[in-house]
Amino acid sequence: MNSIPMRIDIITCLPKLLESFFAHSILQRAQQGGYVDVVVHDLRDYTADKHRRVDDYPFGGGAGMVMQIQPIATCIRALQAERTYDEIIYMTPDGERLNQKTTNSLSLRQNLIILCGHYKGVDERVRELFITKEISIGDYVLSGGELAACVLSDAIIRLLPGVLNDETSALTDSFQDNLLAPPVYTRPAEFEGLRVPDILLSGHEAKIDEWRYEQALTRTRTRRPDLLEE
Ligand code: ADE
Repeated sequence: MNSIPMRIDIITCLPKLLESFFAHSILQRAQQGGYVDVVVHDLRDYTADKHRRVDDYPFGGGAGMVMQIQPIATCIRALQAERTYDEIIYMTPDGERLNQKTTNSLSLRQNLIILCGHYKGVDERVRELFITKEISIGDYVLSGGELAACVLSDAIIRLLPGVLNDETSALTDSFQDNLLAPPVYTRPAEFEGLRVPDILLSGHEAKIDEWRYEQALTRTRTRRPDLLEE
């Protein structure tokens, strides 16, 4: 167990969407085991508006609403008064595309803030004043940054030492060596005439490792040759 758990503060106007995600499975165990504290903040708790609004019409006109700077600034400053943050991340489709290298490096940090965008996004001054990193989870537009924040947090938290039962299992994930993972099989050894490759039943560890490496290489070459060029 970590002496000081990693802390992830997530700022959102849809806190309920996030709470259910973190209340299950590995993410729940990681929190109960003291490896990470995930704290979800409802942006509406920080607005000075008496109707609890957090968005407004865009200056200059156009479709969609824009998230206002005031509640976001108040929330981030309240958090910064408690501790120092390594990164303040904004989830946005125009950010840098998320990959394993970024999640590896974020998993080594102590305190992170993740801001979820909504509507047409946040007032540009939020990005200028507070944001240190902008991350996209892919070239498509989601209705909000919440799912993207869940994806990022999950990818980070599973890397924290001790979170996965088998300490080595994150190391054999796809992408850790710029290689896709090899195929895996479990019982039965034969299903409707389809047999598991003999090598995996041979008990010969060195040969199995070699086979897995070859398979990973072939799979990467055919599906993601771009990874081998990196
Ligand atoms: N918000 C909306 N779409 C997104 C994306 N693709 N990545 C990150 N945040 C987003």
